Amino acid sequence: MTTRTEPVNATGLGRLNGKAALVTGGGSGIGEASARLFAVEGAKVVVADLNIEAAKRVASQINDEGGVAEAFHLDVLNEDSCVEAVDSTVDRFGSLDVLVNSAGVGYRNMPDISYEERWDLVIGVNLKGTVMMARSVSEQMKEQGNGSIVNIASIRGLVGYPAFITDGFNPYPHSKGGVVNATRDMAVGLARSGVRVNAVCPAFTVTEMTRGTRENQEMYEKVVALHPIGRFAEPIEIARAILFLASDEASFVTGACLVIDGGFTAQ
Ligand SMILES: NC(=O)c1ccc[n+]([C@@H]2O[C@H](COP(=O)([O-])OP(=O)(O)OC[C@H]3O[C@@H](n4cnc5c(N)ncnc54)[C@H](O)[C@@H]3O)[C@@H](O)[C@H]2O)c1
Repeated sequence: MTTRTEPVNATGLGRLNGKAALVTGGGSGIGEASARLFAVEGAKVVVADLNIEAAKRVASQINDEGGVAEAFHLDVLNEDSCVEAVDSTVDRFGSLDVLVNSAGVGYRNMPDISYEERWDLVIGVNLKGTVMMARSVSEQMKEQGNGSIVNIASIRGLVGYPAFITDGFNPYPHSKGGVVNATRDMAVGLARSGVRVNAVCPAFTVTEMTRGTRENQEMYEKVVALHPIGRFAEPIEIARAILFLASDEASFVTGACLVIDGGFTAQ
């Protein structure tokens, strides 16, 4: 799907000059917006996704617009695949300075499988996948003596769903609560190595993941009403916060979970 992102040839401030970034889920939505914005800011970007065609599309768009990017086929459920993504980034760009963990799945976009299988898949991709990737980059970042990991949690890591949306057994908030606390735990564990670990907690954002909600007019209006700002976020609005946490501007920020929610959790 097309998302509103910054073109690569827009003027950046060079906030990621000289850095190599690996963006999981980079083929779509928040990951795509981050990959494109990072390229604007001078990073060399590996766009990693289970959907290799989507990753190739984003990487070639960045390259066509004057940035530097490469696509990588990644399955965050597979530790070997995570390690290969790290090795491939370092081989190609000489370092790995930023990891954005944006690969994720929602509960409703599942094929018709059992509740237990769906629970395992959502927890697997969103929580295990985030930790596998972070653990895979941590050795390289520790060796470098610096690095920044940004996890995409959610307001669902902070609060549950309203009852009109689900029944309390949707694994998505369960997975995102895990990402929030894994972020804190990894941040403490890696702090003395020069590696920072933070998360963003977005509210509803205009991506493929929320297509179903946005296409159901009645549900959409009820959900929009939960955001005091009166709309969903655009992916670029999340990417700008991810950029801050990824960059040296956030040099004293670690273990933080930055809420970007149009006031959703403020009420
Ligand atoms: N859209 C929202 O409202 C919203 C709100 C808060 C948090 N988030 C989180 O933001 C992150 C990005 O979601 P999005 O909204 O951009 O969704 P999206 O569906 O547009 O993008 C998710 C990407 O992850 C990839 N992916 C899925 N499983 C994978 C796997 N096993 N290995 C590698 N890649 C895989 C998909 O192919 C897709 O390209 C997710 O973690 C999501 O939970 C989204």
